Amino acid sequence: MGNQLKGLLRTHHCGELRKSHVGQQVVLCGWVNRYRNVGGLHFIDVRDKYGLTQLSFDEYFSKGKSPDELKEYALESVLMAKGVVRERPATALNANMDTGEVEVSITEIQLLSQADKDTLPFLPHGQVEATEDLRLKYRYLDIRAKRLQDMLALRSTLAQKTRTALIEEGFVEVETPILYKSTPEGARDYVVPSRVHPGQVYALPQSPQTLKQLLMIGGTDKYFQLCRCFRDEDLRADRQPEFTQIDIEVSFATQEYIRNLAEKMVRRLFGMPEDFTLPLMTYDEAVRLYGCDKPDVRFDLKHMNVTEIFAASTFETFANIAKQKGLVKAIFLPASVGALTRKDLDELTDVVKPYGGKGVANFKVENGQFTGGIAKFITADFHKKLESLSPEKGNGVWLFCADTNHDKAHACLDAVRRHMGTKFKMHRPGFAFLWVYDFPLLEWSAEDNRFAARHHPFTSPKSDRMEDFFSNDKEKLKALPAEAYDLVCNGYEIGGGSIRIHNTKVQSRMFEVLGMTEEETRYQFGFFIDALKYGTPPHGGMAFGFDRIVMQIAGTDSIRDVIAFPKTTSASDLMAGAPSRPSQAQTKELHFTWLGK
Ligand code: AMO
Repeated sequence: MGNQLKGLLRTHHCGELRKSHVGQQVVLCGWVNRYRNVGGLHFIDVRDKYGLTQLSFDEYFSKGKSPDELKEYALESVLMAKGVVRERPATALNANMDTGEVEVSITEIQLLSQADKDTLPFLPHGQVEATEDLRLKYRYLDIRAKRLQDMLALRSTLAQKTRTALIEEGFVEVETPILYKSTPEGARDYVVPSRVHPGQVYALPQSPQTLKQLLMIGGTDKYFQLCRCFRDEDLRADRQPEFTQIDIEVSFATQEYIRNLAEKMVRRLFGMPEDFTLPLMTYDEAVRLYGCDKPDVRFDLKHMNVTEIFAASTFETFANIAKQKGLVKAIFLPASVGALTRKDLDELTDVVKPYGGKGVANFKVENGQFTGGIAKFITADFHKKLESLSPEKGNGVWLFCADTNHDKAHACLDAVRRHMGTKFKMHRPGFAFLWVYDFPLLEWSAEDNRFAARHHPFTSPKSDRMEDFFSNDKEKLKALPAEAYDLVCNGYEIGGGSIRIHNTKVQSRMFEVLGMTEEETRYQFGFFIDALKYGTPPHGGMAFGFDRIVMQIAGTDSIRDVIAFPKTTSASDLMAGAPSRPSQAQTKELHFTWLGK
């Protein structure tokens, strides 16, 4: 097998040939996907990202060549083949293959790159199960799989649709710096030491928040960017340390304008109908009904507040929580949805543990009889009171989470609700969106004894509550709503934003409320506060989590699937081995002393 094909260009890709090509001479290139020897007839399925084509060697070997030649063609080797398209015999048709009616009878073949079959870690088509770590280490092999190639193609299409939609609306795409100063979004910064400025660092942007606001001050009016953001935070299935946002900012915008824009984007990207509008829900309602600010509304099982009912009950644990102004919440799982065994109920303790819960109280109703869990405290009258709050009645299981700390009770029952939704496959098909608004402005951290910004420090308090914002009453500050909103899809936060502070005094007050001294504020944000002084249009915007949007549309629950070279949950790149220790020369050049092990 010489290099007689050198210089030829492929004529077709591997998913292209059909009956209409029969008789044509073609050149194909691709990877060896499968080799078969069926009673002396040799076949190779050659693969590229477009599909598979069967190459057959009967004529080739009938001219005196030895089938031993094919031994070089280990799986995943790359070849180029020339031959004639012919129809397959009726017995060899393959309806599962797009090219299954034809094959290419080889006249010439050339190995372009031999795969080392002794060390090949896995086959990208899943014939061999590989752990995720192994697949990440050899990511270039994993992305040979059609599933991941399709994800990358979908991501590219969605990026293109985003740009088209926003440019049609009059937006301008502006690139902002990556080497910058801290832009707080609630995570830690990744920092980059500077060779020319000993002892100083750049921070990679957690988002281009201050930059896009400065663009508004600079008169850009309608900005967008598909931008990379960097956050050093605890990772989860829907988080990466670097991720992509569709970042948007608009001058003279109202929340309604931004919501309409979000609706347009959702219609375009998710293919929702022209009359689609976003269902609205306040933050308070989301927490009351679902215990969280990003509810998955593809199924019901709404929370009920049963604190008052338990306050007067003989079940002391809950009665005490109620007396201490705590919260008792319930959901009712009708028997028509599913039954819970004793083991299922016991397992709920593990479901609530990560949220600080100790267990999930419960009892079962069967034709007016109460059994299991806390049944001995339940009377017919008490049950009637519970049922008066529930849209569903009759046989089923009542589940309760309670805590003196309301946040804990909400979070535990949210976990139970999500667990039930998954266990009983309750999700309605399709996408369920929510526009959640009126988020609290601030979050009180008892641990640090100070406020943190719920969204970020540039978010405006509601304009009619400025008096409370300038008051020093902690309770008033805790209760302040912000001009902030999130876009939720199927239980994921896929976007968030706010109307911004555009006034120096209000912005300075915000840093003060967040416990920053004047010096700290000036050092970190002086440039920004100054900019607000020189003619700032009222403005607002939002950022969509582009990776999460692609995840939703691709129907995967791992963000790693939609990123070409993702990091693990410990922020490592297993393929290249990043992060890695700097060389001594780098350490010296960058003027830092290495204290690590
Ligand atoms: P926020 O921090 O809410 O807002 O981020 C906006 C959206 O980005 C996505 N996102 C992430 N995706 C993957 N991995 C992560 N680690 C990650 N963190 C956030 C989410 C989120 O809704 N500057 C503001 C926006 C604004 O106010 O305009 C911001 O970044 O989908």
